[in-house]
Amino acid sequence: MKPLFIVLEGPDAAGKSTQLRLLAQALAARGIPVVTTREPGGTPLGERIRTILLDPASRMRPLTELLLLVADRHEHVEEVIKPALAQGKWVLCSRYTLSSLAYQGRGRGLPLDLIQRLNELATGGLQPDYVFLLDLPPQVALARTPLRDRFEGEGLGFFTQVRLAYLEFIRTVPRGYVIDATLPPAQVTAEILARLPLSGYDFAAKEGK
Ligand code: TYD
Repeated sequence: MKPLFIVLEGPDAAGKSTQLRLLAQALAARGIPVVTTREPGGTPLGERIRTILLDPASRMRPLTELLLLVADRHEHVEEVIKPALAQGKWVLCSRYTLSSLAYQGRGRGLPLDLIQRLNELATGGLQPDYVFLLDLPPQVALARTPLRDRFEGEGLGFFTQVRLAYLEFIRTVPRGYVIDATLPPAQVTAEILARLPLSGYDFAAKEGK
């Protein structure tokens, strides 16, 4: 079967990095080769862009922020995601194009068609096979997160817009699912695994039975 490109979306503090780790373990246990990665970041250059983006001392216009994010995305797609898929590895990625539509579109108010065009340019049209939105009410997200970076310093209104945008956009995504991120982590993992086509990849397959 062709390797799958799986994206986790959702607000800060939804547990995306924990789920990335738990999912990678669950897939590896079934003998599936997996790469985990994230945006912004995921490449050496991307990690430098990430530092600029998250630094509360970085002052920038919304369009500058978007251009940095799509520059990061282009490097990430070309240097990490496409090569991994070409080698038969599954890719588990925290955040992708939907983040820009939710944060820069509804959060910052940039035009959605502009973001879509830039996403298309950055990714060459590479779409995820599955997108899981780890949904969390903004009050819960803010209570879970100490204000650490430039995005987390935004208020409740910003995160409410981002959440509504995510819930709206995920409905247009093929194989896009909303997962309740208030559930215990192991249950969130189980909800995601239940939606993946894993029937050919049981534990016995790994042992060659
Ligand atoms: P992330 O590392 O996922 O932070 P966290 O683990 O706290 O969720 O992302 C860092 C920030 O970057 C996050 O606040 C959202 C922001 N972001 C955007 O605004 N647009 C984007 O396209 C991406 C990829 C991230």
